Amino acid sequence: MAMKKLEGKVAIITGGASGIGEETARVFADNGARAVVIADILDEQGRRVAKAIGPKCSYVHCDVTDEDQVKDMVESTVQIHGQLDIMFSNAGVFSDSDQTVLDLDFSEFDRILAINARGMAACVKHAARVMVERRVRGSIVCSSSVAGSKGAKKGTDYYMSKHAVIGLARSASRQLGEHGIRVNSVSAYGVATPMVCKSFGMEAEDVEKVFESFASLKGIALKVKHVADAVLFLASDDSAFISGHDLLVDGGVCTAASWS
Ligand SMILES: NC(=O)c1ccc[n+]([C@@H]2O[C@H](COP(=O)([O-])OP(=O)(O)OC[C@H]3O[C@@H](n4cnc5c(N)ncnc54)[C@H](O)[C@@H]3O)[C@@H](O)[C@H]2O)c1
Repeated sequence: MAMKKLEGKVAIITGGASGIGEETARVFADNGARAVVIADILDEQGRRVAKAIGPKCSYVHCDVTDEDQVKDMVESTVQIHGQLDIMFSNAGVFSDSDQTVLDLDFSEFDRILAINARGMAACVKHAARVMVERRVRGSIVCSSSVAGSKGAKKGTDYYMSKHAVIGLARSASRQLGEHGIRVNSVSAYGVATPMVCKSFGMEAEDVEKVFESFASLKGIALKVKHVADAVLFLASDDSAFISGHDLLVDGGVCTAASWS
C-alpha cells in the first residue's frame, strides 16, 4: 500500500484541470489528503477531473489573474474544509513564442506575466495569509520551469515569467519562515502536456522525442507523474527542512554544459 504522506491535509492546486496539476491532484488524493481543491478556469474539464479522482476532490472556478477570485477561492476552501495546509500554485500558460527582446510584443508579454507571475503571487499571498492567521505550518509550492534559470533565443516573456516565480518563492520563503511556512518551487523540463503539444502543434510522442534529443538522460521521457512526485515531496514532511529551494526535475539538463 502507498505511504500516506499527506494524511489529513487540505490542499489547493491551481491549474489542476489539466497536465501537471491534474496528476498532482491524483497523487495528493492517493497520499491521504483529506481534501484536494482544483482551481482552474476550465470548468467542465475541472469538474470531470475532480469527479474521476473521487469524493475528496472538488473543483472551483478561479482565474488567478483576478485577485478577488483567488482570495474568495482560498477563503471558501478554509470555510468548507476548516484548514489550508498546502498550496500548489501551478496555473500557467506556456509560450513557445517568437518573442525576442528586439521585437517584444507587450500585449502578449502582459498576458503571460499576468498569469504566470502576478497570478502566482496572488495565490502565494492569499494562501500565506490564511496559514499565518490560522498558525498553520503550511507548505507552498510554485510551478517554475527550467526556463526559470536559463535564457533562450526566444520566448523572452515566458522565460521572464518563470524567473519571477523563483524570485517569488525565495522571497516568500525568507518572509514566511518565521511563521513556519515553507515555500519552494518545482522546475520541470519539457513534459508533453496538452499546452505544450498544442503550442508545438505535435502529438505527445513526437514532442517527447524532441525533448529527449536535448536531454542528458536518455531512454526516459519526463511524465507528469515525475513532476507530481517532486511536488508531493515538497508538499509533505519529507522535505520538512527544505525552503526557498528550486527543485529541478530536468534529468540533468540545466547542469549540463551546452558546449560539451
Ligand atoms: N509542460 C511542461 O513542459 C512544463 C515545463 C515546466 C513548467 N511547466 C509549468 O507547469 C504548469 C502547468 O503546466 P502544464 O504543462 O500542466 O499545462 P496545462 O495546460 O496542461 O495545465 C495548465 C492549467 O492551468 C490553467 N490555467 C491557465 N490560465 C489560468 C488562469 N488564468 N487561472 C487559472 N487557471 C489557469 C489551464 O486551464 C490548465 O488547466 C505551468 O505553470 C507551466 O508553466 C510546464
